[in-house]
Formats: sequence, structure tokens, C-alpha cells
Amino acid sequence: MPAIAVLGAQWGDEGKGKISHLVSENADYSVRFNGGTNAGHTVFVGNSANGKNGHEKSKNGNEFKFHLIPSGALHPGCAGVLGNGMVLEPFSLAKEIKELEDALGKDAKIFISERAHLILPYHPILEGIEGSKSELDTTAKGIGPAYQDKVARRGLRAVDLLNPTQFLAKLQRNLDQLKGLYPHSKPLADLDAQKIAREILTASERFRDKITNTTALLHKALKADQQLVFEGAQACLLDIDFGTYPYVTSSHATIGGIGVGAGVPPNRIQRVIGVAKAFTSRVGSGPFPTEDLGEMGQRLRGTGANPWDEFGTTTGRPRRCGWLDLVALKYAADINGFTELALVKLDILSELGELKVATAYELDGEILDYFPSHCDVLARCKPVYETLPSWSESLRDCRSLSKLPKNAKNYVKFIEQVLDVPVTILSVGRAFEETISAR
Ligand code: IMO
Ligand code: MG
Repeated sequence: MPAIAVLGAQWGDEGKGKISHLVSENADYSVRFNGGTNAGHTVFVGNSANGKNGHEKSKNGNEFKFHLIPSGALHPGCAGVLGNGMVLEPFSLAKEIKELEDALGKDAKIFISERAHLILPYHPILEGIEGSKSELDTTAKGIGPAYQDKVARRGLRAVDLLNPTQFLAKLQRNLDQLKGLYPHSKPLADLDAQKIAREILTASERFRDKITNTTALLHKALKADQQLVFEGAQACLLDIDFGTYPYVTSSHATIGGIGVGAGVPPNRIQRVIGVAKAFTSRVGSGPFPTEDLGEMGQRLRGTGANPWDEFGTTTGRPRRCGWLDLVALKYAADINGFTELALVKLDILSELGELKVATAYELDGEILDYFPSHCDVLARCKPVYETLPSWSESLRDCRSLSKLPKNAKNYVKFIEQVLDVPVTILSVGRAFEETISAR
């Protein structure tokens, strides 16, 4: 069984939830390996029941929003694994497990890495104090400070929840240190270690029995030829190393993140699916060469009237939008070794007249055909566009490549040629069914 990776190829919000859920149809394990509640992965399930895992209908209009649990876990036959590279906020985790169990109508098969770090109530407060919330426009979920604690080797991990005395002692030590470091912070002063420990230990009762050695579990699964699907959170251009630093998240959102965040080496992963929108969006601060601040940007974003319009799943923030950037996408394909691309929201490009696609950047009169490593340089780059014609037909009912309008086919072909990566999945709507398999 080939292991599959589903990775964000742009600045996040590409539709990884839908694609990951889709390719997990026959999977045994759906695995998250990075990030935390900064991720917002939406799955909209229709009525079809293909594959061995079948489908369950949700009671709230078939829409599921995942932040911590991998999207494949929505298939009743697929277990969810939360890998060591994640940062877990215990209250959100307990809530999300309950929601999933309500939807499935049974116990969720979830495995949580003992090594995963915890987001504690002081982490979001630190984002405010240290300024990352305002300067980087983060999701304010405490992601950066939790990873800081991990690297500083003072973090609390899921395994600490299994030893309440030790949990309280470590929490008390960290909180005392922080109060000493920031004596004027009222929100920090208000935190009481005993109370926090009590509340978290109570909340964790819902998932304490799911905390285990997930690396051993995944290697046993590989040995038994079971199917694994890795679901990346965030994306290449938000990766701590390869993204537009410092306007990035604090984890490894690229293929290497699976090695460090789940303990499964790259040579075990045969299919690497990059998920990209047919245009580009970004939420939060940082350079974005093809951003359109005019009417077209608004048109691509939508008004917010539709659930698929470009407003954040986690924070509700309007997303910045612009044309497809193939310089950035080529870079993501190189870094991740995409074996294929899932191109989503192609339907949004209907009736737009002319479509622009950036194939190079211009910097101080020179043409650049690679993605610069310094975000100040990227901020000065001007996209060089090729123009392709749009199509007038709606794509929402298209279910096969042969039914696509000629210009839509040409748009896809153009992307494949520039990237030298085949587009194997096309999404033309948010529902499971609104998909074209091009394999
Ligand atoms: P999914 O998995 C889009 C962005 C934030 C901010 C920067 C750092 O749904 O694609 P953080 O809270 O992680 O420290 O914020 O990264 N960001 C995302 N943008 N989609 C996401 O996740 C994101 N997770 C973080 O907006 O600019
Ligand atoms: Mg999202």
C-alpha cells in the first residue's frame, strides 16, 4: 500500500481537508504531523458511499471543521493519529474528539503521540506580550510560544498528562518563571497553576487512554502493509524553514515534517500530493507578489455569503487573494517532491474573462525564475504574467476531464507543463462529489 502525503503548496487554506479526506477513503490511518489549532480543515460530505470506509452524514449540514484531528478520521474505518510534531491544546482536543464521536455515533479511533507538546493557557498570552500576534498577524492560538518551549526543552508533553503530580510541578515551574519574566502582565498574574492543572487533567479524561507511542504504531502499520495518509497543516510558504520567514508558522509544513513530526522516513512515502488553489490566497501578514488589491482580488475572495468564500476557518479573517503564482508553486514542488498536484477551486475561475498566471518575477529590471529566500526581496518582486482565456461554463457539475471546457483544460495543462507535475485531482466545488479524478 503506498503511503500518501497531502501537503499545502501555497500559503495555507488550499483545501487539504477535502483532498485528505478524499484520498483516505480506503486508508487505515490518517495522520497529522505538524501544527495545532491554527489549522482549519473543512470537509463537506455528500451522500455517496464508495470505498471500504463508507461515509457518515453529520447532523450539522454535513460540514466538519477540523483543527487537530486529521480529516480522514471522518471515515468510520480510518483511525486518526496525532503525531509528535503537533502542538495540542487540551480543551480543543477534548471538544473535537467529542464532536467526531457524535458524528460517528461511536468511539473515535484516535491515537495521540506521547511526545506531542501541549499548548497551555499561557501560550496565547505570550503571543500578545511578545508581539507576534500583532506583528505577524498569527492565529493567536499560542502556536509559536508552544514550539518555543519545545525547543527550549521546557515544554509539557501529552505523556505528562499521565502523571498528574509531575504535570502540576512542571506547569508550576514554567508559570513561575513567566511571571518573573513578565511581572506586569495581568493575564499571566491571573493564571493559577493548580486550577489550570485541575481543569486540563479533567478535560484530558476524554483522551488519556488514546495517548500512546504513535511512531511504533505507524511502523507496525507499515509492516502490515496498511495504508497511511499524512495530512499536512499550513503549507510550504508558511514552513518555518522554507516559508517567507518571519511571516511563517513555527512548524515544518513540508515533506520533511513527516519525518520529524511522525517518525516515518521519506522513502516510505510514495505519493506526495501538493494541494494548490487555482489562484492564490494568504491570510495574515507577509509578502504576496500576485496579491490583487482591486476588484479581481475581491471577486476571487467572494463576499462571505457562501461557505466556500475566502474567509478563515479558524479565525474568520478575510483572506488576501490574487492570481496563481507558478514561481512559488514550482518552488513548493521542488521542496516537497510533489508526484502530483490536486488543483482546487478551479470553478471559481469561470466567467473571469482573462486569467493571469505568474511565471517569473521581475526584480530591479532583472528576471528571476526562482523563489527568493529573503522576504524583503520577495516583497520587491513584481510578477511577470502570462494571460490565458477563461471559460463561461460553470464547472460545478463537471465530473470528468473530457467534460471540462477547452480553456479550463488548457489552464490545467499549462500548469502541468510549467511545473512538470501531473494534476491528478481537480476540485470544482467543496463537496466530496464535486471532484474530477484525472489519474
Ligand atoms: P491550514 O492548515 C492559513 C498563518 C497565520 C499567520 C502565520 C503564523 O488551515 O492551511 P501561527 O498562528 O501559525 O503562528 O500564524 O501563519 N497560518 C495559516 N494560514 N492556513 C493555515 O492553516 C494557517 N496556520 C497559520 O495567518 O500569518
Ligand atoms: Mg485553513
